[in-house]
Amino acid sequence: MDAATASSTGITMEHLTVSYQTKAVLVDVSLDIPRGTVVGILGPNGAGKSTIIKSIMGFVPRDYGTVRVFGQPVADARGLVAYVPQRGQIDWSFPVTVRDVVTMGRYGHRRWYQSIRGEDREKVKHALDAVRMTEFADRQIGQLSGGQQQRVFMARALAQESDILLLDEPFAGVDAATERAIAGLLAGAREEGKTVVVVHHDLETAAEFFDRVVLLNRRVYAYGPPREVLEPNLLAEVYGGTLRKMSWNEEGEA
Ligand SMILES: Nc1ncnc2c1ncn2[C@@H]1O[C@H](COP(=O)(O)OP(=O)(O)OP(=O)(O)O)[C@@H](O)[C@H]1O
Ligand SMILES: [Mg+2]
Repeated sequence: MDAATASSTGITMEHLTVSYQTKAVLVDVSLDIPRGTVVGILGPNGAGKSTIIKSIMGFVPRDYGTVRVFGQPVADARGLVAYVPQRGQIDWSFPVTVRDVVTMGRYGHRRWYQSIRGEDREKVKHALDAVRMTEFADRQIGQLSGGQQQRVFMARALAQESDILLLDEPFAGVDAATERAIAGLLAGAREEGKTVVVVHHDLETAAEFFDRVVLLNRRVYAYGPPREVLEPNLLAEVYGGTLRKMSWNEEGEA
């Protein structure tokens, strides 16, 4: 690939097919996410949204197809990626503090024999501030509410300062203030030219947050700018009868 292509290449999937046991959960998924794009993945429960994110991390075996990050195989690119798993997928009984978890985000910046420095502590402090978790820094992670745990993982991803952010439902079950904080983090990531993939459930905010959205239900039904993709017929097809409220039209009226 030439230099111009390499510099614009973000995350690419070609014909990605994934199954758990014998059940195919992603079928022939091809997506080209240019560097610096903020993408939302929307689709019903069980559509394979988390599986796409895990595929970018190389956490699930592929039946077929390729995933590349900045032109490299995922195994070589993992250090460039910050990942916030979907809530409920983390073992919170592990005996570490909030600060410990966020500090882990800095380890990628140090060799194993180098200790954490003042600069790292500053970044950790800044990340805790950004998600408004400073006052909980010394608390065990098992002693937090679900929304607070979510914020700790956002802080860890921030402290990592990666070029790529993968966020699996960062807005799920957070209060309005946290939602604003996370929206601000997304806006900041966009300004810094990061490539961001966010699993999201709210059609109303999709156009505000994302440059492009993917409508997914095992396969890609549509991929493009929100106003083109979030179209009633397509939504009905992807969500079937499961979409409670058809909340999108050109004017954003219900
Ligand atoms: N480890 C696993 N083993 C077997 N099946 C799995 C596993 N993980 C997910 N699945 C199944 O694969 C399908 C896709 O799961 P995935 O978690 O990617 O969906 P999702 O779109 O993220 O859903 P949700 O909105 O509920 O988070 C589902 O049918 C799910 O039950
Ligand atoms: Mg999921």
